[in-house]
Amino acid sequence: MSQQVRGVVARAKGEPVGIETIVIPDPGPGEAVVRIQACGVCHTDLHYREGGINDEFPFLLGHEAAGVVESVGEGVNEVEPGDFVILNWRAVCGQCRACQRGRPWYCFNTHNARQKMTLTDGTELSPALGIGAFAEKTLVAAGQCTKVDPAASPAAAGLLGCGVMAGIGAAINTGAVTRGDSVAVIGCGGVGDAAVVGSRLAGAAKIIAVDIDERKLATAASLGATHTVNSREKDPVEAVRDLTGGFGADVVIEAVGRPETYKQAFYARDLAGTVVLVGVPTPEMKLELPLLDVFGRGGALKSSWYGDCLPSRDFPLLIDLYLQGRLDLDAFVSETIALDGVEDAFARMHKGDVLRSVVVL
Ligand code: APR
Ligand code: ZN
Ligand code: ZN
Repeated sequence: MSQQVRGVVARAKGEPVGIETIVIPDPGPGEAVVRIQACGVCHTDLHYREGGINDEFPFLLGHEAAGVVESVGEGVNEVEPGDFVILNWRAVCGQCRACQRGRPWYCFNTHNARQKMTLTDGTELSPALGIGAFAEKTLVAAGQCTKVDPAASPAAAGLLGCGVMAGIGAAINTGAVTRGDSVAVIGCGGVGDAAVVGSRLAGAAKIIAVDIDERKLATAASLGATHTVNSREKDPVEAVRDLTGGFGADVVIEAVGRPETYKQAFYARDLAGTVVLVGVPTPEMKLELPLLDVFGRGGALKSSWYGDCLPSRDFPLLIDLYLQGRLDLDAFVSETIALDGVEDAFARMHKGDVLRSVVVL
């Protein structure tokens, strides 16, 4: 038995997305069907629509979601029907070399549902990041579901499934920000702002927000940045050094994904500091640096993929902090929209008008 629900589909490169009827099979072994309650609009959804990730159209978009498990297949013991879950795009295997060596966030056997969701004519859908949650329901691997406290608002909880986790994790997991650190965050969109929030949670003494947009700097300040730098007006490397007694920041988090900001991050850190790269560049981007500068500076250059998170460890913990009033996830929800509002939300995201638009079902 299968069932039919509504979902947001990108049929072809660059074309506006639209609502279609989706056919969802009953969950097979290791799979779960989840009734989606909320799903945030992320840049990656737009990248799919623009053909920037692969050309396996049609895509069922949406991947930043929370909902309730409706049914599970054979052998599923991670979750059961009725559980409130956040979906993740990295269900780790536990078997590969990375998992075995205690670094499951580098797992290279991550898995998704085996069965395919389809359009009513039988065309197979590619779910964004193996999730596809701009839909009333979706089919995922049970390992993609992490049970969290159902007292959390679905709109806020879903954001941990991608962008907000990427930013908080960049600070806490990858950057290992610790009490007393100075942190500079370059690029204060949803991801950079989450890095600000993560740095504050970790006890950073100074959090310097860098952006080219005053509106973004104001939001970063409201979320805990102690200093702001408009890099259109001031050289951000000098500004960060000035604010840190001439040294540079202990941890610099790059959340833009461009050569000039990668370079700023490299030079804005203290000699033994850490650079965390969370902004995703495009394939043609290049950066040239004097080797003597690379050699002459200690510290670490790290990239952060999904905030090096472990959903089973990090999602419940962050939801607890949220429910205790120590982590303001609601601040990231700029607006709630319906399923048919995704295309317009892409435009607002592109203009930088919102941190996150969240589809609520
Ligand atoms: N210097 C500083 N800030 C910049 C610059 C620049 N040269 N160019 C853009 N910005 C700022 C924008 O003003 C915006 O506030 O970077 C921010 C980018 O934010 P968003 O577009 O909202 O993107 P976000 O969702 O935060 O993702 C940022 O992280 O995970 C990656 O793929 C994601 O590469 C993207 C990055
Ligand atoms: Zn693994
Ligand atoms: Zn995303």
